[in-house]
Amino acid sequence: MLELVDLSRRYGATVALDGVSFVVPEGRIVGFVGPNGAGKTTAMRIALGVLEPDRGEVRWRGSRVDPDARRRFGYMPEERGLYPKMKVGEQLVYLARLRGLSKHDARRRTQETIELLGVGERANDRVETLSLGNQQRVQLAAALVHDPELLVLDEPFGGLDPIGVDVLSGVLHRHAEAGAPVVFSSHQLELVERLCDDVVLINHGRVVASGAIEELRASRARRLVRVQLTGADPDWFEAVPGVRLDGARGGAFVLELDAGVDEQRVLDVARSVGDVVEFGPVRPSLAELFREAVQE
Ligand SMILES: Nc1ncnc2c1ncn2[C@@H]1O[C@H](COP(=O)(O)OP(=O)(O)O)[C@@H](O)[C@H]1O
Ligand SMILES: [Mg+2]
Repeated sequence: MLELVDLSRRYGATVALDGVSFVVPEGRIVGFVGPNGAGKTTAMRIALGVLEPDRGEVRWRGSRVDPDARRRFGYMPEERGLYPKMKVGEQLVYLARLRGLSKHDARRRTQETIELLGVGERANDRVETLSLGNQQRVQLAAALVHDPELLVLDEPFGGLDPIGVDVLSGVLHRHAEAGAPVVFSSHQLELVERLCDDVVLINHGRVVASGAIEELRASRARRLVRVQLTGADPDWFEAVPGVRLDGARGGAFVLELDAGVDEQRVLDVARSVGDVVEFGPVRPSLAELFREAVQE
């Protein structure tokens, strides 16, 4: 696994990271989530050794990351680094060779990787002649070409069309299933929610929550239930102690329950005043979990 341990980093007076720690376990896809300026790129650069932390360290399989380990990482930086005049295939073979593959393996892996990413026909085209979406796919191919042991991708989904998103999602799943840890940053929360088991939520250089999304859901402090009733007064719930209206969504009311309020008791009251069409817990979206974590 990859471990980021107590990373801190300033740029002048700006605190970009303030004691960030998290792990990316083998075979897991971890979404690294936070608004612009939260510190995602800084943390990923430190993980890749492109930037030194002021404090803390990064460990890979229990040891401090060294250049040798780093060559076996797959990295997609925020600033895209392709040579625009170079042909797609040549460029990828070159990068694969830099990372230690034989000429034969570099060629084979280049072909496999561009096919996987749907740009197999473009091997002999110069990068600059490709659409931005396809350049992004080549950038991803550059991160994957040497079959890395670990993937660290900074905003890999930015600039991809929906088909590209599906292709990349499939690629990340395959890497994780083969046992590689995968971490990618994103501010597209719906996408992270769909793709990841684990998340690390970061804001102003600090991790505000981390872990399996389902566990974050289970441990949240707020309890919301969605209720739809017919034949009752709209303010029926005001008679139930510890219950407040959170809002109305799609014809149903969302009620917030104080700690200790029994859901079944609320349901009983609902039944006694009208016909219950719908009653159940509200599953918070990742966006809501993030909002709540930031407010704490
Ligand atoms: N090279 C730099 N010089 C000065 N400030 C920087 C530099 N890189 C990042 N920062 C600042 O550090 C903070 C974290 O930035 P960054 O890691 O890029 O966040 P994110 O990737 O989450 O958008 C921001 O306030 C940003 O302005
Ligand atoms: Mg960034």
